[in-house]
Amino acid sequence: MWQIPLISMTLTGGLWFGVSRVPDLPYFQLALLFLAFAGNTALCFIILRLRYVMERHLNWLETCYPSGFVAARGTRWYNRPFLVRTLFQSMLGLAAALSLVLFCATLWKNRSEVLGIMPQKPAIAYYDTHATSLADGYETVTFEQAHPDLVQIIAMERAGQPLTVLDIGAGTGRDAAWFAARGHNVLALEPSGAMRAIGAKLHVGESIVWRDDALPELTQVMQAGKTFDIIVISAVWMHLAREERATALSNVYDLLAPGGTAYLTLRLGPAEPSRGIYDVTLADFKALAQSLSLPVTVLRTQPDLLGRSHISWQALRIDKPAP
Ligand SMILES: C[S@@+](CC[C@H](N)C(=O)[O-])C[C@H]1O[C@@H](n2cnc3c(N)ncnc32)[C@H](O)[C@@H]1O
Repeated sequence: MWQIPLISMTLTGGLWFGVSRVPDLPYFQLALLFLAFAGNTALCFIILRLRYVMERHLNWLETCYPSGFVAARGTRWYNRPFLVRTLFQSMLGLAAALSLVLFCATLWKNRSEVLGIMPQKPAIAYYDTHATSLADGYETVTFEQAHPDLVQIIAMERAGQPLTVLDIGAGTGRDAAWFAARGHNVLALEPSGAMRAIGAKLHVGESIVWRDDALPELTQVMQAGKTFDIIVISAVWMHLAREERATALSNVYDLLAPGGTAYLTLRLGPAEPSRGIYDVTLADFKALAQSLSLPVTVLRTQPDLLGRSHISWQALRIDKPAP
């Protein structure tokens, strides 16, 4: 009986620690929390049974072997019979109840993924759920590796100029941080709260302004009426449905200052509806830009830097003429 609190503490502590180590695996978290709830509930009943057996044994000892029996029927609150059992059960009950609360909260937070409900904004829901593990991948790639053409554009065409930069779908802020570190004025738009939080934490102290805003409407930034010298839209276009793309592109163009450049990377690869990824082709993009009379310059195509062989990235630029 005395081992039970030890078993419970080891079990609950280990399982809760496990939950904290897999923030992006909700099924696994739910399984661990359920195990913690079930384990502590079972121990609650086990302790009842053990105390009952113990009681019966003590009664037998008292009757059949009185000289070996030690009566310990205390009368104070701290030495009354059943005090130990009651306290042990309270601790186990608390651990089980907390595990159940965490189980329900985790289930609620991840309800769309776990229950297979397609959320209204699957891309944002995906980034919100998997932000931590995605962030590692995004931040291991450098700006220079991801955007060699943009590095060249800045070095060749904008050297020495302080720029106003808009990073749309900034993710963890890798690109925004590159510009901020060079003294440019950067506004990072990121609709996923979890990504925004990680980005702000990773690049704390760097002068990036973060906002919750999204394509195609870009409501806040359009209302602010500011324009930008450079607009970066890296690995975001595939999250727009076909019918959203004309509004998105024309808003991006409106946000360009005269002489400004929008730099985009298109994901060329299969659609993934569960992640809110739609099919994108260079031909479609060019046709869209042409329908809006926007000049597109095709830059280089790069393999996926995270090693996914079925995906490649097409860089593009759209320039607004200087007055
Ligand atoms: C693949 S990540 C790219 C992040 C970053 N730009 C980079 O290159 O590392 C896509 C980002 O776009 C954001 N996003 C998804 N839909 C968006 C939308 N409609 N408007 C703006 N950003 C969006 C996601 O939240 C996510 O952070």
